Amino acid sequence: MGQLQLKEVNKSFDGYEVLKSISLGVDEGEFIVFVGPSGCGKSTLLRMIAGLDSTSSGDIVIDDIRVNDKPPVDRGIAMVFQSYALYPHMTVFENIAFPLRVERLPEEKIREKVEGVAKILQLDKRLQQKPGMLSGGQRQRVAIGRAIVREPKIFLFDEPLSNLDAALRAEMRLELSKLHAQLKATMIYVTHDQIEAMTMADRIVVLNAGDIAQVGAPLELYHKPRNLFVAGFIGNPKMNFLPVVCTGTSDEGVTVEFAGQSMLVPVAPRQYLVGKAMTLGIRPEHLQLGGGNINVSVIPAVIEHLGINTIAYANLPTGEPFCALLPGSAPVQAGNELKVGIKAEDCHLFDADGWALDRRVNLAELGMPTLNPEA
Ligand SMILES: Nc1ncnc2c1ncn2[C@@H]1O[C@H](COP(=O)(O)OP(=O)(O)O)[C@@H](O)[C@H]1O
Ligand SMILES: [Mg+2]
Repeated sequence: MGQLQLKEVNKSFDGYEVLKSISLGVDEGEFIVFVGPSGCGKSTLLRMIAGLDSTSSGDIVIDDIRVNDKPPVDRGIAMVFQSYALYPHMTVFENIAFPLRVERLPEEKIREKVEGVAKILQLDKRLQQKPGMLSGGQRQRVAIGRAIVREPKIFLFDEPLSNLDAALRAEMRLELSKLHAQLKATMIYVTHDQIEAMTMADRIVVLNAGDIAQVGAPLELYHKPRNLFVAGFIGNPKMNFLPVVCTGTSDEGVTVEFAGQSMLVPVAPRQYLVGKAMTLGIRPEHLQLGGGNINVSVIPAVIEHLGINTIAYANLPTGEPFCALLPGSAPVQAGNELKVGIKAEDCHLFDADGWALDRRVNLAELGMPTLNPEA
């Protein structure tokens, strides 16, 4: 139990279309992350699944039953928000027990369930404390406990870690992944943070201005972004985009020219591209200190030394930002010329409309999990 189908779901506020015909199937037990910039419609979509917002059109189906007209309590879902929404005057025990009291479960049953959940979330020593005595991470665990205790078919999370500091967020990501493995429940998690999406999701749904930009496993999105939006959104530091011109196509791929240098990029060719402007994408971590099929010379304005890596930030002569993620020992200095190489096989290529040409990368051959082999 815990299958979800969204069928051409649409939402408008006062005639303004916030979500445009969203169709998506979520399997039982999947950890799905909706990711996208602020305002793209993530919370609205989640609230529609929960039944807190109505749909303008389309169907929401949970376990083969259309739930559009069902109130939230009858949908078998539980939602956790960014603000923990705990009752400050109640103990941790009573906060977690709250939904069970509403259901009028017998006292003994409530105790058994709350103690079970508290153990999973390592709150068993905190049950008699009030939320005010807990850290942010512990409070969010109480809110999660209150969701778990209801044994929902589907968990919905709306940016639950945004109020926590960076170290705690990293810790909670791990805990949520473990919790998912333990409960084997369907989880739908909303975030604007691509790192949360990459680290926790079975499949990521990238949303852009109310549309699904791409759905796929984290490494599918990393290696085969369908368009410029996903290419720029997934990965940190961001993919570099270089303006290039297509000078030829063949069975082997597409030849492009950048700053007087030519390179054959192994992507599925399209005839009509010759002579057209294109965008070449190269991730900062794929730039080479020596070698490569073409070179880029820049003067970095800022260098960040992270120990394990050194990051150089510069601009291309044409103005576009350019970033290189280099080994920690790389001898680079702000203000001094940096020359890096680009290997054709690492490149992504996008047409003038921002659509990616299919890369000749076989994810299965690279030993990467593909949940969606046709993608
Ligand atoms: N109740 C509402 N009335 C009018 N507009 C809304 C309402 N809720 C959300 N919106 C608009 O819908 C868009 C998507 O919002 P939201 O789903 O909250 O985005 P996200 O969670 O991705 O940041 C935004 O432009 C927002 O202003
Ligand atoms: Mg939101």
